[in-house]
Amino acid sequence: MSVDLDVRDVWKSYPRHGGGVLPVLEGISFTVSRHELVALVGPSGCGKSTLLDLLAGFQRPDRGSILFGGEAVADPSPKGILITQSGSVFPWISARRNLTFVMNGIPAEEKARRASHYLELVGLQEFASAFPYQLSGGMVQRLELARALVVKPDALYMDEPFGSLDALTRLRMRQELLQIRRDEPQTTVLVTHDVDEAIALADRIFVLSERPMRIKQVIEVDIEHPRSMADPRAVAFKDFILHQLGVIED
Ligand SMILES: Nc1ncnc2c1ncn2[C@@H]1O[C@H](COP(=O)(O)OP(=O)(O)OP(=O)(O)O)[C@@H](O)[C@H]1O
Ligand SMILES: [Mg+2]
Repeated sequence: MSVDLDVRDVWKSYPRHGGGVLPVLEGISFTVSRHELVALVGPSGCGKSTLLDLLAGFQRPDRGSILFGGEAVADPSPKGILITQSGSVFPWISARRNLTFVMNGIPAEEKARRASHYLELVGLQEFASAFPYQLSGGMVQRLELARALVVKPDALYMDEPFGSLDALTRLRMRQELLQIRRDEPQTTVLVTHDVDEAIALADRIFVLSERPMRIKQVIEVDIEHPRSMADPRAVAFKDFILHQLGVIED
């Protein structure tokens, strides 16, 4: 498979409150293949959101390079869409308008067609004219996803997209994401604290260290879909990852 995302020796630090610098990334390198889904799991504050910001062009590395499709990522672009931890749909416009709003330079008819297509894909066709406050948490999350997909990005960067949802809705969102990936796959980097979610969705899982972030382990999840968490391979991966994260000890 061809490489889409090529991260080479990326360094990033922030000014530390009260002086000095806070090193977050110290020489991170990895690649993500076309249409692959890589899940990042690691401790809070290790630099996952910072890394996604860099991948999506919202920040620049201090050193090193980030290439997508062979080109340097310099600014945010519709090629790689970031779904943030806090969400970013506009509360004052309808679901449909949230989608058409982000499609710039596209004829009105095509905008309308695409908005309908993606609202349907995430099961919100009946709520096209609803405002975000009239939607449930899971529906808002699906609207976030539709709004990212509607610009037909090559890459999706998802930062805990289902983090605020209840367990059942999370399970449903997993299935929906897998379904969407079957129909319209994107190269995806998914940050999650949920090890089951990583195992259910990812082609590879990167287990990250405390800050400054290192990739401690790379796990190939070579289990066919649909995956059962009761599969002995899934159970073994989970045990291994939780050990790596220091959540369970021998
Ligand atoms: N804009 C900023 N200015 C200064 N420090 C920052 C900034 N953004 C993040 N940090 C610091 O960088 C470190 C990494 O933050 P980041 O948000 O990338 O972590 P994270 O892995 O996404 O954490 P979480 O799992 O809690 O979301 C933290 O110590 C944080 O305080
Ligand atoms: Mg974060």
